[in-house]
Amino acid sequence: MSITTTSLAFLLAALSYFLFSSPPKQHYHTLFLSPPFSNNASIALNLRTLTRRPHIAGSDANAEAAAFVLSIFTSSSLKTHLVSYHVSLTYPLHRSLVLTPTQSAKPITFTLKQENLVDNNPYANEVTPTFHGYAKSGNVSGPVVYANYGRVQDFVGLNVSGAVVVARYGKIYRGDIVRNAYHAGAVGVVIYTDERDYGGGGDECFPVSKWMPPSGVQVGTVYNGLGDPTTPGWESVDGCERLSEEEVEMSGDMPRIPSLPISAADAEVILKSVVGDVVDGDVYPVGPGPGVLNLSYIGETVIAKIENVIGVIEGEEEPDRYVILGNHRDAWSFGAVDPNSGTVVLLEIAQRLDKLKRRGWKPRRTIILCNWDAEEYALIGSTEWVEENREMLASRAVAYLNVDCAVSGPGFRASATPQLDELIKQAAQEVRDPDNTTQTVYDSWIGSSNSGVIGRLGDLTSDYASFVQHVGVPAADMRFGGGYPVYHSMYDDFTWMEKFGDPMFQRHVAMASVLGLVALRLADEEVLPFNYVSYASELMKSAQDLEKDNLNNSIDVSMLFKSIQDLSTAAQEIHIEKEGIKGALKVRELNDRLMMGERALTDRDGLSGRTWYKHLVYGPAKYNEYGSKSFPGIDDAIDNAKRVKTKASWGLVQHEIWRVSRAIRHASLVLKGELT
Ligand SMILES: *[C@@H]1O[C@H](CO)[C@@H](O)[C@H](O)[C@H]1NC(C)=O
Ligand SMILES: *[C@@H]1O[C@H](CO)[C@@H](O)[C@H](O)[C@H]1NC(C)=O
Ligand SMILES: *[C@@H]1O[C@H](CO)[C@@H](O)[C@H](O)[C@H]1NC(C)=O
Ligand SMILES: *[C@@H]1O[C@H](CO)[C@@H](O)[C@H](O)[C@H]1NC(C)=O
Ligand SMILES: *[C@@H]1O[C@H](CO)[C@@H](O)[C@H](O)[C@H]1NC(C)=O
Ligand SMILES: *[C@@H]1O[C@H](CO)[C@@H](O)[C@H](O)[C@H]1NC(C)=O
Repeated sequence: MSITTTSLAFLLAALSYFLFSSPPKQHYHTLFLSPPFSNNASIALNLRTLTRRPHIAGSDANAEAAAFVLSIFTSSSLKTHLVSYHVSLTYPLHRSLVLTPTQSAKPITFTLKQENLVDNNPYANEVTPTFHGYAKSGNVSGPVVYANYGRVQDFVGLNVSGAVVVARYGKIYRGDIVRNAYHAGAVGVVIYTDERDYGGGGDECFPVSKWMPPSGVQVGTVYNGLGDPTTPGWESVDGCERLSEEEVEMSGDMPRIPSLPISAADAEVILKSVVGDVVDGDVYPVGPGPGVLNLSYIGETVIAKIENVIGVIEGEEEPDRYVILGNHRDAWSFGAVDPNSGTVVLLEIAQRLDKLKRRGWKPRRTIILCNWDAEEYALIGSTEWVEENREMLASRAVAYLNVDCAVSGPGFRASATPQLDELIKQAAQEVRDPDNTTQTVYDSWIGSSNSGVIGRLGDLTSDYASFVQHVGVPAADMRFGGGYPVYHSMYDDFTWMEKFGDPMFQRHVAMASVLGLVALRLADEEVLPFNYVSYASELMKSAQDLEKDNLNNSIDVSMLFKSIQDLSTAAQEIHIEKEGIKGALKVRELNDRLMMGERALTDRDGLSGRTWYKHLVYGPAKYNEYGSKSFPGIDDAIDNAKRVKTKASWGLVQHEIWRVSRAIRHASLVLKGELT
């Protein structure tokens, strides 16, 4: 849309407000997108305020940030409240890393410090020393072995027994790197940021360019579960039942060997002490040794108070149907991209909705804005809240819309459960691309390298995980820009955002427009804008991929294809039914079926051996939490069968295929709305 047609649309919308007492909802949606409603200056100011001090979960600075979010919610006339939990967090008490390059050489002690590179930063000294959340405490020593990205395949043929593994970030979740190293026999792990993955600027780095400085360290958690580790499956309210430390360790999700994140500069010194074969096309030899690393990490575990900030706009006609938007607030240090670019988008949406309300708009359904805490440790704030409100959400939540790293550069990206695909594409067509105003966000997106591909939400990367995987709530996640070099380091600060991430704060504006429009349409349209036809075709693709995965001849997948075919038919029928629907109760009944379709894909027993994960279609890959899997239960079983190669193990694969087929069949029964 050009500037003039946007202004014209705005004028028409404004005019219609004066002419009609109750303009249709679309008029308000047009207003929501109009230039006078957005405010990049206030976005920049809010981001500056939120990122003034480092604000790790459990800190005073993060409580201060919560009070700020609450104040903006309140001044945007939302009904607000805080929801607190008392959860297990860890902080570093003692860290040391000493390299003995050869038996006769003098040991080198690393400082483990990121250099402060921004002038006038009075809070640089408040940055938590670099560490891994929930890392195992201990002193270990061993020869250095280089294990590339630390994937399962990287350890094949590598003897890391008794060694301290050096691995680089960039392909899988860091908790899985530590776990893979442990299973391979290592005694400790250091994980570093390689210039080949995060450098790229030659000698130039932040604050001159966007690239990670040599002393930069990617901090992060190494826990393999989600939610407070001491309350698996229930909410961490004050005085609640908790697992003992031993029980938590037995859960299998805690790291079993100590680890530390380190800088590219330190890794370079360490890798110089390694001899041996050069890995296929790689510049570093793998070892072991002769360099020896002594790694010491002592952490303290505390029960800390965390706070979710909740703001509500009650729906006029269906107050008991919830459209939920969420973003976390806690950061490993300043958190300008991760997560507060998302927080300021949430605040911008709150302020725009306030302006709409002042012009007479009321949503049909209830809109809930959630600002989560302790996401960085294990998606804790959102997970505890979902566990506490599971039944209410299961019966009332229409959708959950997540925004975490809202802006790290140009280029729109989205992930979603597939019934939301079409809605996201339509919303992206209504907003101009901030980086090329001659076309829409959608045009740029389909013209980009990821050509409009929508990701899925089976991973544990952000706060949508509990909504999708524990309850089966339709969900979406959106951002501008992909991975960025200063991720989880102290250089992810306001200066980085202002210089490189979003100099005009117009990407933030566009994010608020797309996300906000998706929320508005979900909250206002009489019939929910869900399309299960896309869901069925997405499932068909996953099933075809599965079939190609050279299964054992004895495996029958026909029931899976049959169930998807049935879903496709039911989806087409409800799509037609939507057109002619009349009468409040009939509309409500149809919407309930659309809402509950996703729930049907969950199963009370959950994934085998990972029972908290209820969704049988989308769940985390077993060896990489960042990886989203279709049919994770089938995948786990195939993985196992290919290793043990017994009849019984292939029988379990068949069983998992049956389970998924039944869930999909139930989804089509729900869409049809008839008892058998
Ligand atoms: C681990 O090493 C640190 C010094 O690096 C020392 O203070 C601490 O006592 C050691 N802990 C154990 C359990 O050996
Ligand atoms: C693996 O390395 C350890 C220690 O470096 C050594 O004791 C062991 O013999 C090695 N194992 C094999 C199979 O090479
Ligand atoms: C590293 O640890 C080993 C084993 O505890 C010890 O013998 C050695 O002296 C330590 N090296 C340094 C430099 O602290
Ligand atoms: C902007 O979009 C137009 C199409 O509307 C395209 O021709 C042009 O190449 C784009 N410019 C950039 C810099 O991508
Ligand atoms: C807001 O956007 C306008 C127009 O693109 C720009 O001139 C201004 O500098 C931006 N404000 C901030 C704070 O970036
Ligand atoms: C297929 O399963 C049978 C047992 O049902 C097993 O004996 C055979 O090795 C499997 N074949 C493959 C290719 O895994």
